[in-house]
Amino acid sequence: MALYSEKVMDHFRNPRNVGVIEDASGIGEVGNAKCGDIMKMYLKIEDDIIQDVKFETFGCGSAIASSSMATELIKGQPVSEAMKLTNQAVAEALDGLPDYKMHCSVLAEEAIRSALEDWRKKTQADSLP
Ligand code: FES
Repeated sequence: MALYSEKVMDHFRNPRNVGVIEDASGIGEVGNAKCGDIMKMYLKIEDDIIQDVKFETFGCGSAIASSSMATELIKGQPVSEAMKLTNQAVAEALDGLPDYKMHCSVLAEEAIRSALEDWRKKTQADSLP
């Protein structure tokens, strides 16, 4: 059996939503201290909907595939749904990851959550008198 599913290879070779959103509503950056990989997520949120999402990942193939799939899963979704995205859902959507690569999908979950927290902080700050 191949180590990586076709979907993992596809998202690794042709990652969706790579890049930067200049006027992002929220930005999240996370890393894994053990492997040194870093993931950065940019969200554009309007009316509580994820209108756009982009990422930059300096990391392994599984981290790139996980970020790419995660952006596809939350694009166009309400914030409340994006908040619920788990690394298991990302890995399942990729038709699985090897056990020792599951932590790569955790980065995607954490990066999205961190970007959502950033957005929440900014919107709360804006609404202060
Ligand atoms: Fe660290 Fe994949 S090996 S994110």
